[in-house]
Amino acid sequence: MNIPQRPRRNRSSEALRSMVRENQLTATDFIAPLFVREGKAERTAITSMPGHARLSIDELVKEARELFSLGVRTVALFPAIDDAKKTSDAREAWNPDNLNLRAARAMKEALPDLLLMGDIALDPYSSDGHDGIVDPKSGEILNDASIEALIKQSIASAKAGFDILGPSDMMDGRVGAMRSALDGEGFERTLIMSYTAKYASAFYGPFRDALASAPKKGDKKTYQMDPANGREALREAALDEAEGADILMVKPGLPYLDVIYRLRQASTLPIAAYNVSGEYAMVKAAAEKGWIDGDKVMMEVLTSFKRAGADIVLTYFAKDAARLLRG
Ligand code: PBG
Repeated sequence: MNIPQRPRRNRSSEALRSMVRENQLTATDFIAPLFVREGKAERTAITSMPGHARLSIDELVKEARELFSLGVRTVALFPAIDDAKKTSDAREAWNPDNLNLRAARAMKEALPDLLLMGDIALDPYSSDGHDGIVDPKSGEILNDASIEALIKQSIASAKAGFDILGPSDMMDGRVGAMRSALDGEGFERTLIMSYTAKYASAFYGPFRDALASAPKKGDKKTYQMDPANGREALREAALDEAEGADILMVKPGLPYLDVIYRLRQASTLPIAAYNVSGEYAMVKAAAEKGWIDGDKVMMEVLTSFKRAGADIVLTYFAKDAARLLRG
């Protein structure tokens, strides 16, 4: 018997399409990255990221409250540190009164149910603009010296109330070192969402503008991954899993959907995708020109992460998408 195949039947109405839909986006999938600055009642627009601003702590709390009411329950903080406080050893990163840790305490006090994620990397505090410590003679990014600094930053972050730490530095062995240090200090409940496969990408440009954190010399290619490599992400994932990561992240997102898919197949851990600043800026810029429908492209992009296998999406679209999902 030759039964005609008509896959279109399953697409014939919105009711049917929504019944057979394989992936659903919800606001609880999102983590909203937010930028913090000093001052009061300040919102400094970030030109290359329309809709985003560096927020003083009071404004940050307001923004997080709005996100929470829209169903976005996790935010990631990124501090814009004054140049005068940046040094080659990045010691401001674990000063308990630094901008980031003050912001964390204020957020936890105002919104105790909000989950707070903190980046673990030295670049916002480093006068060299690198994620690790730079050897002044050779210019090399020193792995083990960087880990010592990252451990201090991790403990200070856990103390200030961060629930989830995101090592974004790509030093070897940092997840294991962080896990044992955190456990040793009584922070066995603090999660580690590892930037497992973080690529040396040009898509971070607007983020580095927002924090004035671009490397002063050279690039990040000796620690962040080569965009040409997929298999290597599996090696990093196996290491992070063995070292005790709770969640694995792929970054950037859209140009690396294959990597998200591979990690999904290789691990039972939750997978996060970081839809980075440059991906956001591209959509916003094309929409501003009237070349694409910004809202529709946003939802299509966010859905692609779920289809590829991500459970969690860090995205600057969190508020806009949560609003649209609410209808
Ligand atoms: C810092 C860090 C970066 C991003 C997140 N954490 C920049 C970088 O590695 O240079 C990029 C995020 C984005 O572009 O949205 N280690």
